[in-house]
Amino acid sequence: MRGSWPPLSVLYMIEVEGLTKRYGDKLAVDGLTFTVRPGVVTGFLGPNGAGKSTTMRMMLDLDHPTSGRVRIDGHRYRQLSDPLTSLGALLDAKAVHGGRSAYHHLLCLAQSNGIPRARVHEVLDTVGLTPVAKKRSKGFSLGMGQRLGIAAALLGDPRILMFDEPVNGLDPEGIHWIRNLMKGLAAQGRTVFVSSHLMSEMALTAEHLIVIGQGRLLADTSMSRFIQENSRSYVRMRSPERERLLDALREGGYAAVPAGDAVEIDGASAADLGELAARHRLVLHELSPQQASLEEAFMQLTAGSVEYHAHTAEAPRAADGGVPPGAAPPAEAPGTPSTPGTPGAPGTPGPQPGGWGAGWRNKKRGA
Ligand SMILES: Nc1ncnc2c1ncn2[C@@H]1O[C@H](COP(=O)(O)OP(=O)(O)OP(=O)(O)O)[C@@H](O)[C@H]1O
Ligand SMILES: [Mg+2]
Repeated sequence: MRGSWPPLSVLYMIEVEGLTKRYGDKLAVDGLTFTVRPGVVTGFLGPNGAGKSTTMRMMLDLDHPTSGRVRIDGHRYRQLSDPLTSLGALLDAKAVHGGRSAYHHLLCLAQSNGIPRARVHEVLDTVGLTPVAKKRSKGFSLGMGQRLGIAAALLGDPRILMFDEPVNGLDPEGIHWIRNLMKGLAAQGRTVFVSSHLMSEMALTAEHLIVIGQGRLLADTSMSRFIQENSRSYVRMRSPERERLLDALREGGYAAVPAGDAVEIDGASAADLGELAARHRLVLHELSPQQASLEEAFMQLTAGSVEYHAHTAEAPRAADGGVPPGAAPPAEAPGTPSTPGTPGAPGTPGPQPGGWGAGWRNKKRGA
């Protein structure tokens, strides 16, 4: 790291105020106001077409806002005297000249921005591309291209970093690496703003979240608060004497919902429920607190603003008497952790009416 800059403890922020972008009839970004602060990784979440990339392009002055403004360290991006040393960004990993080697691509950027050649070697090393540095980038795999884009973002050792879907195409080792890289950069006091549609990944990486849907701000909150406020926590109980258990719960004033061969109870602690079962001398085969994952919290929050629905047999359309588009989350994304009624959950009897996960969706809608 070069030593000539102001200390990283100075606040370097991205400030977005009333940011709006219209493409013809399409309102891609709708009055967004938020601040991205240093010291933590801020995740930028939203369904496909929510306006994440458009927002990031406007932050970099690559797109002109219809109204509103963005300030980087208090200035427009185009007013920054050494932009690469203020803000490093990866928006599109394919935006490189395929005939140039990784080394020459970075050298070109370095020389046009007053960055020493030695820094090119440093960033190639950081992203693990040194062995292929002299190869033309058009022969690079998706993951290698992402690494080159990340190297370019790091080149100016900037205090603010912005990555649009950086883990796309990376293998598990690469995902692990970039997660630690982002956390490390934030721990140095940098501002790290990263978009992703991989909720499970964000849960492991980001401390703060900005969530948008159809261009509008849905949440600007810490990760833990987001999960707490937008997801359901409950206790799952299973007993060979299910009817007696249900009676005991009702008698104790608990709202219990049968779920397969188990019972789910909202708003109660596992400890209290365990005591209740003991008082009634009930045998329990399961007593487990459950917390919905970020994926579920996200799907619940953005359910009304998902534009692009995949209609499958498990997500019936409104015309079939099912859930109208936008009224409930779409089919579970790959990697969604097991929820009651999903395949793989122990003791799950099989597909339910409305498809896998319908029980969970119905419950969330209060059905
Ligand atoms: N140059 C453009 N001209 C017209 N419409 C555009 C343009 N760029 C984006 N849009 C529209 O603006 C909306 C937001 O797009 P954007 O790419 O910002 O979404 P996103 O959140 O990045 O989605 P994804 O998760 O799929 O990357 C979309 O409906 C898109 O079709
Ligand atoms: Mg995008």
